[in-house]
Amino acid sequence: MSEIVTTEIRDECLIVRVNNPPVNALGHAVRDGVVNALKEAGDAKGVVLHCEGRTFFAGADITEFGKPPKSPSLPDMIEALETCPVPVVAAIHGMALGGGLETALGCDYRLIDRKARVGFPEIDLGIFPGAGGTQRAPRLTGIAATLAMTLDGKPVSAARAVDIGLCDEVSDGDILENAIAFARQQSVKRRIRDLPAPAMDQPAIDAELAKAAKARRGQIAIEKATEAVLASASLPFEQGLEKERELFLELIGGSQSRAMRHLFFSERLSAKVDGLNATPKSLGLIGVVGSGTMGGGIAMAFANAGFAVRLFDANADALAAGLEKIRSLYMASAAKGRTSEAEALDRYDRIQPADNWEAFAACDLIIEAVFERMDVKKAVFAELDRVARPDAILATNTSYLDLDVIAAGTKDPTRVLGMHFFSPANVMRLLEIVRGAKTSDTALATALDAAKKIRKVPVVSGVCHGFIGNRMLKGYGREAGLCMMEGAAPQDVDKALFDFGMPMGPLAMADLAGLDIGYDNRRSMTAGEDYEPLASVLQDRLVEMGRKGQKTGAGIYNYEPGDRTPQPDPVVTALIEELAKEHGVKRRNVASEEIVERCMLALINEGAAILSEGIAQRSSDIDVVYANGYGFPRYRGGPMCYADELGAAHILERLEHYQEKYGPKWWTPSPLIRELAETGGTFGQWKKG
Ligand code: CAA
Repeated sequence: MSEIVTTEIRDECLIVRVNNPPVNALGHAVRDGVVNALKEAGDAKGVVLHCEGRTFFAGADITEFGKPPKSPSLPDMIEALETCPVPVVAAIHGMALGGGLETALGCDYRLIDRKARVGFPEIDLGIFPGAGGTQRAPRLTGIAATLAMTLDGKPVSAARAVDIGLCDEVSDGDILENAIAFARQQSVKRRIRDLPAPAMDQPAIDAELAKAAKARRGQIAIEKATEAVLASASLPFEQGLEKERELFLELIGGSQSRAMRHLFFSERLSAKVDGLNATPKSLGLIGVVGSGTMGGGIAMAFANAGFAVRLFDANADALAAGLEKIRSLYMASAAKGRTSEAEALDRYDRIQPADNWEAFAACDLIIEAVFERMDVKKAVFAELDRVARPDAILATNTSYLDLDVIAAGTKDPTRVLGMHFFSPANVMRLLEIVRGAKTSDTALATALDAAKKIRKVPVVSGVCHGFIGNRMLKGYGREAGLCMMEGAAPQDVDKALFDFGMPMGPLAMADLAGLDIGYDNRRSMTAGEDYEPLASVLQDRLVEMGRKGQKTGAGIYNYEPGDRTPQPDPVVTALIEELAKEHGVKRRNVASEEIVERCMLALINEGAAILSEGIAQRSSDIDVVYANGYGFPRYRGGPMCYADELGAAHILERLEHYQEKYGPKWWTPSPLIRELAETGGTFGQWKKG
């Protein structure tokens, strides 16, 4: 018997105990161990399948995907549970996810700890339950409930699992002891495969499909998962299993699932920094300077995770308005049922207003989120330097400014770093942590630890203009603007990128953010910064006309009062044509393929530069930034994963094509792309020497 799977006879029951930390993934050793252990059932009264540690099986072992299958497979193991001569009880604690839940469905009975949850999260990996789950679950819950779980991917509570028939009973107290007692009461096998096929429920199915089509636009797994679940109603069990397998294998070998699995591991890797082994400082009180949208969101992110927060704004009216906004957001969240009203009030109470800088003296971490101007930031850090404890960590939320300059203005630059949140900061998962030239390992480790505690996905960036995300965005926006000037209508540019999978097009996005932001940026550029005037000439003209985007009811598009839908405007069309003429641009038909290609190549070329300069530690970190901060379609895995799908040789060839057409200024291929094209390498495997 392996150490991973052990057995014991207790109260005439065979206990099959699995211990495969950290999450009892169903790797080969587990499957093999369970199949062998079941052979010991002999004349036991029943079998209890139990996992050690924090959870029941969290699913198939994702690291095995894409490798040659090793017998016994998960379906083989589940069959062994079904054919075991005595009743088998799954003792579920923690979570039973994906293949873990399918394993439980291979058992005759399921007892579930009151705090446990079960679910089919496979859809987030671009697949669906592929070990009988789509055939067994509907026989217990009906089609609609299984479809909902499969397409939504979110786990359900123990109470809900019992409610919909997925589990038999909720257990309070020791799950193993309770499962043994439960097993002793069961005298008959109860295989799910022997239950009648579920009935179709078309209206409920349509409703689930409509929800998923919106939430997971572009993901092919939606259609395949639905086909598999519906097969449980139309096909005999064995044929349903075959259908499920066929569809599952199609997805698992495809690029969408590969991309989504890449993000799963990348999001866990991004929190790890090579060579960093400092102990984070413990965090109690958090300070936030600036009570605008960003500061308020940051305060909420910490309050939501249980931290006490001091919020300060030099303008007392702004502080009052900021607090009122926070209160209304919490109340709205309670009204929607996302939290209880008591919890919303607790969170709000954790954010205490401060009326002077001295209030930060007791804080462990202080984050400033004030106006994006170097003189303003420096003045804030001078105050923080004066009042903060010498061991407190000081962070700036700047999106572009030079962290090293900010840090140099303080007595101890080793405790200064960037914590760049994305708006709304209480919702968006990405946190860019900017490591300055002098940032200490302790400060970095503390910021990473804070990110984990407030459930953000952190990515460490070096110092450069715009860090990883916004620096790359410049070229993307530039090409969108140029395509428009060269002949594509704004709505064509936006549609091309929306259809590629972006949540909204770059021009509608610019209207949302405010055209004046880019306008001001271009006017405050410092030496070494550059931009393409033709790409933003329209935006400049619009700002000067008072059309600053959504907030003024017009920008590149028009907006009806109270409606955020961008409406094409003939005035803008005429202006584009006039400006193109002024700049000697001969307008032509720009195909959507060209729009997407130019925008993506710009992202990838800058990403390659960021990687080779060491601004990003690894290419997957860039993908994490784009998937979590900019809505890059997860089924494409991020710009660098997408680049690896296209191949470096192809990218080089296309960059050279545009270089020839438009000149070297924006189109010179990064030397790293040339290197990868020559060596046949990928961004994913490349490491800075
Ligand atoms: N396979 C392999 N490794 C896994 C894994 C899995 N199914 N689930 C988690 N891990 C690894 C993580 O990569 C991580 O490794 P590192 O420590 O090396 O980074 C470690 O376990 C801990 O994971 P988390 O950091 O995510 O821990 P957490 O406590 O925050 O979350 C969890 C735990 C909710 C289980 C989360 O890990 C999770 O969602 N896991 C994936 C669950 C899943 O998708 N299951 C379905 C798998 S596909 C399947 O089962 C297909 C099928 O039908 C055959």
